[in-house]
Amino acid sequence: MQIINYKQVRYNLVARCVAEPGLALGVHIPSPYDRALGHQILMTTIPSVTSLATSLGEFPPEAVIFGRSEVMQSLRNRMDKVASANVPVLIQGESGTGKDIIARMIHGLSPWRTGPFVKVNCPAIPGTLLESELFGYEKGAFTGAYGSKPGRVELAHRGTLFLDEISELDLGLQSKLLQLLQDGQFCRIGAQEDKKVEVRVVCATNRVLEVEIESGTFRQDLFYRINVVNLQMPPLRERKSDIPDLVAYFLEYYNRKYNCRARTLSGDLMSALQKHHWPGNIRELENLIKRYVILGNEEVISSDLVAHQQEYPTLDLNFDGPIALKTITRQATRELERKVILKVLQAHHWNRKQAARALSISYRALLYKIRDAGLPPNRSSRRRIDPLPPQDVAAD
Ligand SMILES: Nc1ncnc2c1ncn2[C@@H]1O[C@H](COP(=O)(O)OP(=O)(O)O)[C@@H](O)[C@H]1O
Ligand SMILES: [Mg+2]
Repeated sequence: MQIINYKQVRYNLVARCVAEPGLALGVHIPSPYDRALGHQILMTTIPSVTSLATSLGEFPPEAVIFGRSEVMQSLRNRMDKVASANVPVLIQGESGTGKDIIARMIHGLSPWRTGPFVKVNCPAIPGTLLESELFGYEKGAFTGAYGSKPGRVELAHRGTLFLDEISELDLGLQSKLLQLLQDGQFCRIGAQEDKKVEVRVVCATNRVLEVEIESGTFRQDLFYRINVVNLQMPPLRERKSDIPDLVAYFLEYYNRKYNCRARTLSGDLMSALQKHHWPGNIRELENLIKRYVILGNEEVISSDLVAHQQEYPTLDLNFDGPIALKTITRQATRELERKVILKVLQAHHWNRKQAARALSISYRALLYKIRDAGLPPNRSSRRRIDPLPPQDVAAD
């Protein structure tokens, strides 16, 4: 790792690689604040993701990442094959399935591994800022643009640009990205001429982009461009045979990290983990074990699991009387619908337009369903409803 002067770096080099809290490795783009602090950024060259990770003791070993399940083995083969080719990769999968990790591994296995890995978490940057963050701007491009600034696309030159939650890009930015993917060219805001960069683009999403295309919020031509190779991350409930190894890994990791001595889980608890639905996938499992290590008793885990089971109730049928199938299914569907709508509203900070888009229904239909389900109409009154059982899933 080497410290270099920011001015020397100009716009086309690197960022700072730091260990993120949690397990993954992260990249930090120097902010104006960083630069003010002595104009220095750290430049890291990555010989290989695994060796860097091992040296930091932060990245899970490959045996843990891929486990034993067949589905992960074939994902690994696919990833190995595509990593070295300069083609865009789309990683799809539910939240917490490891999309970030895989994106970083692809970079670490690629010929551009010594270049920067620049992550852009699209929903985390407000829409109006996203264009300047991504593509940069020239002096005077807009009020307050006192100097020129490179975007993250430029910072990723000769490296990997990782666009997380790609479905959050608005249609205008989607066309700029399309141009970048077609000919490697883009234009800073306010610039007269296009610039050219060499970047490997990796995108991730937890949405079904085909649905977004149907609803007109995602460009089909962009989808074809980013989806040259598709890696589908399986949810944890489809690779339950990997749970014991993951548990052992997180237990050891957090025992070491917090200097604790939490014991191996009992057989009963392990089988409860195997039965759990894992809506938050590996992130949920990791948080669960972290809590267990810190708090030190199995009851913590058991009560968490029970709380979640309420979301996936077991069916209790009374065979003494008639079983009204239609009524039962209608009620169950309504209850499930209520929960899904509530979760999606919460995930979108109660923005009903975004929630309607995510649910692939019209805005009017969502308003109707909110009223029908007895949910509060907006953010200010949302506290009046019964909260759902706590979710383990930390926001990414
Ligand atoms: N296969 C895996 N093995 C070990 N830990 C994993 C694995 N996949 C994900 N994790 C851990 O789970 C958490 C969520 O992973 P992440 O890659 O951020 O998921 P996503 O991007 O799909 O939401 C991270 O702390 C990560 O280190
Ligand atoms: Mg992620």
